[in-house]
Amino acid sequence: MPLDKKFYKMSRQERLDTLKPSAESRQIFENMALNPEVANNLTENQISEFEIPLAVCFIKVDGKDFTVPMATEEPSVIAAANNGAKLADNFSILKNDRLMSGQIVFHDVQDSQALSTTIVAQRKQIFELALTSYPSIYKRGGGLIDYTCHSYEDWLSVDFSFDTRDAMGANMINTMLEAIANYFRGIFPNEKILFAILTNENCQCTTTVECRIPIEKIGLEVAKNIVKASDYAQVDSARAATHNKGILNGVEAVVLATGNDSRGAVAAIYAGADPHKGFSQWRVNNDNSELIGEITLSLPIATAGGATHVLPKAIAAHELLKNPDAKQLAAIIASIGLANNLAALKALVTKGIQAGHMSLQARSLALSVGARGQEIDQLTEALKKADHLNAETARKLLEAIKNPSVS
Ligand code: MEV
Repeated sequence: MPLDKKFYKMSRQERLDTLKPSAESRQIFENMALNPEVANNLTENQISEFEIPLAVCFIKVDGKDFTVPMATEEPSVIAAANNGAKLADNFSILKNDRLMSGQIVFHDVQDSQALSTTIVAQRKQIFELALTSYPSIYKRGGGLIDYTCHSYEDWLSVDFSFDTRDAMGANMINTMLEAIANYFRGIFPNEKILFAILTNENCQCTTTVECRIPIEKIGLEVAKNIVKASDYAQVDSARAATHNKGILNGVEAVVLATGNDSRGAVAAIYAGADPHKGFSQWRVNNDNSELIGEITLSLPIATAGGATHVLPKAIAAHELLKNPDAKQLAAIIASIGLANNLAALKALVTKGIQAGHMSLQARSLALSVGARGQEIDQLTEALKKADHLNAETARKLLEAIKNPSVS
């Protein structure tokens, strides 16, 4: 498409003029709730905004009740989160570490032992550089915590850990790393630096939560089958992927609603765990009195910085949560993930997943074929009784609702 003005430099109206969507789509794109300045500055080439429903889950974490906002387009996610949260009653925090990481990588290193010894000896200068390159994080009580070196073939990585307080800290980490990398360039003129960047392998930023369900609440047979289903996710990667998807259903919905970096969270979760095994484990205790679930997730979650306090809905979401700090929010998110997992496993080993999903799926199918107003309830009910739950059936049934005399 030949453009006489660069697309990213255009106003939103000019971009839409250039793209020429249909009149109907144009109106949909034009209709925005977000402040145009905020939207335009949060992304490049911005043409509109994207809405998805925001719902809540009520959950108790470490004895405190939270109303957790969740943004998702999948109808059953919220029902599952609330079912699991209710069944478990409380989620206890077993571990909650929060340090972020970054690395400076050298390549074509001749003597990595000598290089790492010199870098380790530069501790005072490196800590000073971290402070002078990003003083504001030190004012908030954070900053560079430690660094070590590791080598692989002729690469050498200097691995840093940072306390970024309640922020995810991408900008501050990258700023500090680039300042330190420039210092290295000066003191090691013969060495080559390949890059300096944070790592999304946040192994020092992990949260473990546990829940205990009294057996009388769930029945021993169901509890044992939940354990078997969870054990199976440890040995079959095909099942692990689905087991973990159910966990991510809840995790991602909260990450999104709180304006967090959803890609960073998923990258960290997968980097911090064996991706071919279930992220959670379930067991029944020795005297068969409790079903116990545990999950450990790397969660580089923020309650400050990034979009967390720019997007109005994210600000309101944090307020609904009573403005937890980043560690608390990570524990809430891990608990929601475990709640979703519990509800999914229970449904799977009892009545199956479709029974609970049916009515929600019928409703979203009704919407997708254009039912509006009273038609939504009518079509949902008709679909629940239909032999096949698909768009073709939905369209035919909607037609019959719209034109009762024809059918
Ligand atoms: C569907 O979104 C998630 C489930 O498939 C998870 C699972 O199977 O554990 C129900």
